[in-house]
Amino acid sequence: MSKGTFYITTPIYYPSAKLHIGHAYCTVATDTIARYKRMCGYDVLFLTGTDEHGQKIEEKARERGVTPKQFVDEIVEGKGGILDLWQLMNISNDRFIRTTDDYHVESIQKIFKQMYDKGDIYKGSYKGKYCTPCESFWTDSQLIDGKCPDCGREVHEAEEEAYFFRLSKYADRVQALLETPGFLEPASRVNEMINNFIKPGLEDLCVSRTSFSWGIPVTFDPGHVVYVWVDALSNYITALGYANGKYGDFEKYWPCDVHMVGKEIVRFHSIIWPAMLMSLELPLPKKVYGHGWLLLEGGKMSKSKGNIVDPYLLAERYGVDTLRFFLMREFPLGSDGNFSNEALISRINSDLANDLGNLLSRTVAMVIKYFDGTLPKERRGEPVDDELIGMAGGLRDVFEHSMENFATQSALIEVFKVISRANKYIDETAPWILARDEANRARLATVMYNLLETIRITVTLLQPFMPESCEKAFEQIGASDKDRSWENAGTFGVLDADVTVRKGGTLFPRIDMEKELAELEKMNAQAAIPAVPPVTIDEFAKVQMTVCKVLACENVKKSEKLLKFTLDDGSGIPRQILSGIAKFYEPEQLVGKTVVACTNLPPRKMMGEESNGMIISAEKDGKLNLLILDDAIPAGALLC
Ligand code: ME8
Repeated sequence: MSKGTFYITTPIYYPSAKLHIGHAYCTVATDTIARYKRMCGYDVLFLTGTDEHGQKIEEKARERGVTPKQFVDEIVEGKGGILDLWQLMNISNDRFIRTTDDYHVESIQKIFKQMYDKGDIYKGSYKGKYCTPCESFWTDSQLIDGKCPDCGREVHEAEEEAYFFRLSKYADRVQALLETPGFLEPASRVNEMINNFIKPGLEDLCVSRTSFSWGIPVTFDPGHVVYVWVDALSNYITALGYANGKYGDFEKYWPCDVHMVGKEIVRFHSIIWPAMLMSLELPLPKKVYGHGWLLLEGGKMSKSKGNIVDPYLLAERYGVDTLRFFLMREFPLGSDGNFSNEALISRINSDLANDLGNLLSRTVAMVIKYFDGTLPKERRGEPVDDELIGMAGGLRDVFEHSMENFATQSALIEVFKVISRANKYIDETAPWILARDEANRARLATVMYNLLETIRITVTLLQPFMPESCEKAFEQIGASDKDRSWENAGTFGVLDADVTVRKGGTLFPRIDMEKELAELEKMNAQAAIPAVPPVTIDEFAKVQMTVCKVLACENVKKSEKLLKFTLDDGSGIPRQILSGIAKFYEPEQLVGKTVVACTNLPPRKMMGEESNGMIISAEKDGKLNLLILDDAIPAGALLC
């Protein structure tokens, strides 16, 4: 019998070509909670998806020479894309929404119109600092040294016609919601929202753009596209069928039980989204949970730092369950945590290989050794059993308390306390001594049964974290379906008295820390050299590299970057080449030098001047050096 519905969501992800383990963090946490709730007997709807509109996507697609839809399709559905990552991480989402899906587009257009008809969206003008080449508005605080944060160029005051959402109208109601206990968690985020955003005064929000077209058009004013956050946040209801015919379970699942989101987007979920729902006169989400970030050496995750953060590579080396477990055990969900390969390996070795893995393999091996794999039914309890039985029997309730508060780390700590206690129980009862005397048969069977029961209960509770490994562990201890249930996790003594165990492989092999770190170091060094596709010798031979003497060199007017070279390329006719190296050299320094140029590139114009080729230089870590040759090499010599 279902205990009721439970609707849980992750943010919908921007299509990012470089997925790292930090991206997986939020979705793994949400998946763990969704699996836990299903295990408890709830009818769970777990939604995730992708957020595919906006200027950035439009630009990236243009750079690649594809349409925005082709660009996002590849990242979402292509090899190594977002769907692949979720499959790899064993994510059990029930639904996946893409904001380019037709039904979502249809709903957004209706939602926008509904708020407009109500008078909550109105036409005004957007003022800000505008960067023309980037076609972007910036606020003063976003500028870097007063210049465009994307390209570093000058910006100017500009004004654009736009639609606005009356966010200010809902300020009081939003504040009251934020102050409702349990709405925004962890509770520490409540003050941050009130002090930083509500107290200074909520301003109306610009909710349409005319400067790019990759978005959902406003039906009644087609030059405008809907602001990405209005489009994105609404996914939580359009995916249930709100204002579309695709799904029909809005009534069943809405309001949402919890929106899991990263801390940087709590503002959108706890202020803007509720205000939109107020305008639509819909029930409000019951909870927004703002989790922390996974950091690398204190900074936000990126691929360039020394650690391996590629989830595919990590899963391949250590296993998906291990990775899932690490993410949930190492970091408290609500705070930031530092990721490192060392912490990962150390956690695998201590908790999984040493504690859980050892307990399982020792117990199964002993039952096989002493009883040929099947326990006899005789029992003889002793007082030394009581503590373990008490802890294991009471574990489910302690675990439940933590999980209900999204304290996934504490839940795991509680489980592992019992696992450690069981390992200690083996030392206390010394089964290998009991086994020496046939008279101890009932006692030995009792010890083995208590260990198997402890494993059964702990593994049942670990299922949401490590689904596949738990399945294997259950097989080893001979657990039937009834033995794996949430209901029976609260009772000690559920396994059949004459249970039969089965030997299985090592679930969590120990890792040699030093060797592994050295191996990772090597992989990192190799990864630092960008992989480029090979060229054939014929292709290579097509490039003409000619030794040239610099006859003259000067700055190009109005350009901070370009130098204009006049070169002797051995042909008798001076060759002009422009090169963007003004930042690195004074022109006078270069006159008389012997350099190399690619001389069979088609001519091209830069800043009104013609350039006939490219001078070869080398760049690393932001430093650039021209390739300067021995003066004895004559002009016109070809590189071969
Ligand atoms: O924000 N540690 O998408 P997104 C922990 N499209 N979490 C991290 C992380 C890290 N290092 N890096 C990313 C968006 N995340 C919007 C959401 S919802 C209507 C629209 C988390 O792809 C991040 O905090 O930038 C967020 O919760 C999720 O990944 C998606 O981020």
